[in-house]
Amino acid sequence: MIYHKTKAEIELARESALLVSKTLTETAKLLKAGITTLSLDKFIGSFIRDHVAIPSFLNYHGYPFNSCISVNDVVVHGFPNENELNEGDIISVDIGVLKNGFHGDHAYTFAIGNPGADIAQLIRVTKESLYKGIEKATAGNRIGDISYAIQEHTEKKYGYGVVRELVGHGLGRSLHEDPQVANYGKRGSGIKMRDGLILAIEPMINLGKREVFTEPDGWTVRTVDHSVSVHFEHDVCIGKNKADILSDYTEIEAAERSNPNLYYSN
Ligand code: MF3
Ligand code: CO
Repeated sequence: MIYHKTKAEIELARESALLVSKTLTETAKLLKAGITTLSLDKFIGSFIRDHVAIPSFLNYHGYPFNSCISVNDVVVHGFPNENELNEGDIISVDIGVLKNGFHGDHAYTFAIGNPGADIAQLIRVTKESLYKGIEKATAGNRIGDISYAIQEHTEKKYGYGVVRELVGHGLGRSLHEDPQVANYGKRGSGIKMRDGLILAIEPMINLGKREVFTEPDGWTVRTVDHSVSVHFEHDVCIGKNKADILSDYTEIEAAERSNPNLYYSN
């Protein structure tokens, strides 16, 4: 089911998206080698609850943590754990919150220390592809226009692996609403978008091949060739001439830039 949101509902969705941005910002300040991802998850859970919201992912189809923290060759849905982060690790932090009946759901990928030129480029290009997709998220365009823009910038231009098994999605009173937003596809395909449609657009891009597998825990998605994978996600509302980006990377990027333990590429 596709839901188009009213102006008032869009403002509630923005509040939820921005609470995720704020949680990611505070998480970015804590990132350094030696810290465990489980401690980050505990912080994330408390921060969300302190802001009168609920972590959307906890218990979602049985998901057992507040957040998804995906390190190196883990694409998405990584379980926070007791392992310490190391210099050179690539870490995607994906957070959802439910507040005032609306979900926010977005993600950012950080590098602990200098990841080297190849991975730095993968991070930069994946983030760029997200914005290329968002440029197409306007009324009258089709979902496939977003998909095509992301695939062109990542697979065609750089030869990266675009994950097929996982996709972006509609977002609102449910964490996952229709339509699905694949990161690959044909221009002019799929449903025509109207304003008020809120989408979570989330390219998942591998340095190597596109194939992934799910671990026996039922959640952790990893690249088959064990190459590094990068994930960025924004919540956007379709507008007449321009998408309204409900989530915000500004403060996350500022925190990334001022944390000496993080590599900042752009
Ligand atoms: N951003 C991911 C998604 O939209 C997070 C969902 S993880 C889960 O699919 F734990 F909630 F399943
Ligand atoms: Co999502």
